[in-house]
Amino acid sequence: MPVPMLDLKRQYAPLHRELLEALGHVLETQQFILGEPVAAFEDAAAHHLGVSHAIGCASGTDALWLALASAGIGPGTAVLTTPFSFFASVSAILRAGARPLLADIDPATFNLNPAAVQTVLAGPDGNTVKAILPVHLYGQPADMVRFAGIAKTRSLKLVEDAAQAFGATSGRVAAGGLGDIAAFSFYPTKNLSAAGDAGMVTTNSPELAERARMLRQHGMRRRYHHDELGWNARMDGFQGAILKVKLKYIAEWNQARHTIARRYHALFHATGLAEAGPYPDKGIVLPHEVPGSKHVWHQYVIRIKRRDALRDFLAERKIGSEIFYPVPLHLQEALKSLGYGEGSFPEAERAAREVLALPIFPELRKDEQETVVAAIADFLS
Ligand SMILES: Cc1ncc(COP(=O)(O)O)c(C=O)c1O
Repeated sequence: MPVPMLDLKRQYAPLHRELLEALGHVLETQQFILGEPVAAFEDAAAHHLGVSHAIGCASGTDALWLALASAGIGPGTAVLTTPFSFFASVSAILRAGARPLLADIDPATFNLNPAAVQTVLAGPDGNTVKAILPVHLYGQPADMVRFAGIAKTRSLKLVEDAAQAFGATSGRVAAGGLGDIAAFSFYPTKNLSAAGDAGMVTTNSPELAERARMLRQHGMRRRYHHDELGWNARMDGFQGAILKVKLKYIAEWNQARHTIARRYHALFHATGLAEAGPYPDKGIVLPHEVPGSKHVWHQYVIRIKRRDALRDFLAERKIGSEIFYPVPLHLQEALKSLGYGEGSFPEAERAAREVLALPIFPELRKDEQETVVAAIADFLS
């Protein structure tokens, strides 16, 4: 039986009437850029996440750039982040005019390691750092308690890359409210997804919110009066309308992802192939969940030694899988100028060789999961 990595049509089927109605409303009001459909989504999203301000924008990449620029990150400053993320986590820092500094990840969670961050801060470039940018990779919050402590001690801004973590929490606080300012992506494969590109900035600071709103519209506070160099980073009305509908279901969908993750855990444990980790030996290492935080299972990522061979084996059986991410950011061609090289971040490099994301989406069926696990057991037998 083929198993897709993601099948968005299953999400669309029960919602199509509601979504078409919402799109029809945008057509009737002709509010195609920002306007009421986006404002209504922003209000609902802020309420849902328990943050004071949500600012809709054109993509997660724009959200990161807006968050950094609003927080005063620009030329002459450095931002500390992870080498194991999507490219935008670092490219947005460069786009803001600042210098990315990287620190290695925790091999159990794949998130930025606070101890590694402390080491960089204590090093020769430490004093240039003005912000820390942890990424809640795969939907699990980074160690925000530690990062908040470090940020406070050194008066740094804490900027969350929450692109993969809508609805995740640390303690009782949702991602998006765990730092000074945060960026979300609603790229179609994300757990809360638009029908195209879209993103959002969240913050509890009225000043940062006002700056982000101004910067997303070419630095305008008053129409055609440009106070600063911003950019066109506006969300369009169709995306706002779609997202407002889908927001009603996100808690349910995240719960379904949680159930699926639990079932994968149980099925893998039953095969006897699950290993303690953080590194795989003969079997597989299952994702590690940090107590006290809520993972939203944007991805279910295992570690295995013969990862590429397993991926080919699954592909032959028409079982989807994906590698997030095969090349760590410090080894990307476009980021050579950062001055890092092979061996700079051994944990990120090892993770890039061993991680494999398995199919997970709210509508994934139990028999499909059983097929995935049985295929992996076959591969290892
Ligand atoms: C961790 C992370 N940061 C940033 C982004 C950028 O978001 P977008 O693709 O919406 O620009 C993504 C999504 O691809 C992401 O996964």
